[in-house]
Amino acid sequence: MTLSSTGSALDRWGFAEWVAASKRSNELYDPPVLNGLNDAIVDIDGRKLVNFAGIGFLGWQHEPDVLTSFTAAAADFGLVTGGSRMTAGISQPHRDVESLLCEITGRERALTFASGLLANVGFVNAMSARFSFAGGLGVDNTDMVFVLDRDSHWSMWKAAEKFGIGRNLLTFRHNDTAHLRKVLEKVRGRRVVVGFETVYSADGTIAPIGEILDLCEEFGAVSYADDANGFMVYGNGQRRFAREYEDLRRATFLMMSFSKSVGLEGGAIVGPADAMQAFEMLSGTSMFTAAIQPPTASAIAYVLRRMLHDPAVVDNYLDRVDRLRSELTKTGCTINPTPTYITSIAIGSDEIAAQLRLDFAECGYLVPIFRYPAVKKNNAVIRLLLNARLSQDQLDGFIDTLAALKKKYDF
Ligand SMILES: Cc1ncc(COP(=O)(O)O)c(C=O)c1O
Repeated sequence: MTLSSTGSALDRWGFAEWVAASKRSNELYDPPVLNGLNDAIVDIDGRKLVNFAGIGFLGWQHEPDVLTSFTAAAADFGLVTGGSRMTAGISQPHRDVESLLCEITGRERALTFASGLLANVGFVNAMSARFSFAGGLGVDNTDMVFVLDRDSHWSMWKAAEKFGIGRNLLTFRHNDTAHLRKVLEKVRGRRVVVGFETVYSADGTIAPIGEILDLCEEFGAVSYADDANGFMVYGNGQRRFAREYEDLRRATFLMMSFSKSVGLEGGAIVGPADAMQAFEMLSGTSMFTAAIQPPTASAIAYVLRRMLHDPAVVDNYLDRVDRLRSELTKTGCTINPTPTYITSIAIGSDEIAAQLRLDFAECGYLVPIFRYPAVKKNNAVIRLLLNARLSQDQLDGFIDTLAALKKKYDF
């Protein structure tokens, strides 16, 4: 017998009614089930769709030599670490990734996590922890103040839930350094961490990194830059946003995700050695949960080395993004003004957004729609990540379909 959610104590949670109503309005749906790879073309229910929804946009995860690195490490190190980092240990591939991250970012020590989300949650836990071993010398940072850009990722908000808004959680308007200054003035003299993202995934903006870090230095605040989206796309000799990424070298801590440009899964934080060693225990998310699987860690290290060795791959990709942006502008669509690789096409209405997802699928395109709660209500966007493995013909087909749907729904 399977238990259903009706006719039980669970009735009072309202899931059944909410699910039924949200499915009727196409707002809630079952995720697509892919037959085969999540690549530039995906097979869903026997239909081939051109895919704009994958976040591993450079496609390293499909390269034969990356797969070889993965399978060789699976044979050498097994599929799992077998427990948490502090009890079961990590494998050599984890150490390789951490050394490479220090080399790439010029930081003293790195700590990998099973995902970027766990890195963010762990950071906030660690920075606000009260802990001592058996009553010995400990840390008590429970009175710290967290100052966060308002458009920060869900994981940062989730992590900061225990903070009191206005007491030890303050926010500043998105990318607004004049407002950040005012907020910092209010908490002058206290222990402050300023958290922001480098590249914001919904609106594709880039933070005024240098100005934020100047303020952190002026007010004696620690800085935490979530570079989940920009990691290995910008910096490292890339000409776009070179000044911002040069400034980023001054951030106290830098966080990265391996699910974007690297195309795999996992996350990390880099920073000063003592703090990073403390985080290993105080984050909780490296202590009480499993690490990245060893073959994935090996593939991450492999991809990072290839990226360092061949920066032209990213450069060519960014050239293609520029061309796509200009094509989109020609259709009359409103796209985000900052020319990062994250392209969002404004739709507005949540209702139209829900319908568009279906219409695109009907026409053969799997297109990610960001709507509430990913963005504010009725600020829906098509969040386009150009998949580097799509051909120009496939992109042209998408532009034509977009133009037709734009006309139909007038967004
Ligand atoms: C800004 C930002 N931070 C953190 C994360 C979480 O990263 P991960 O997917 O590795 O958990 C994401 C993922 O979308 C993100 O965009």
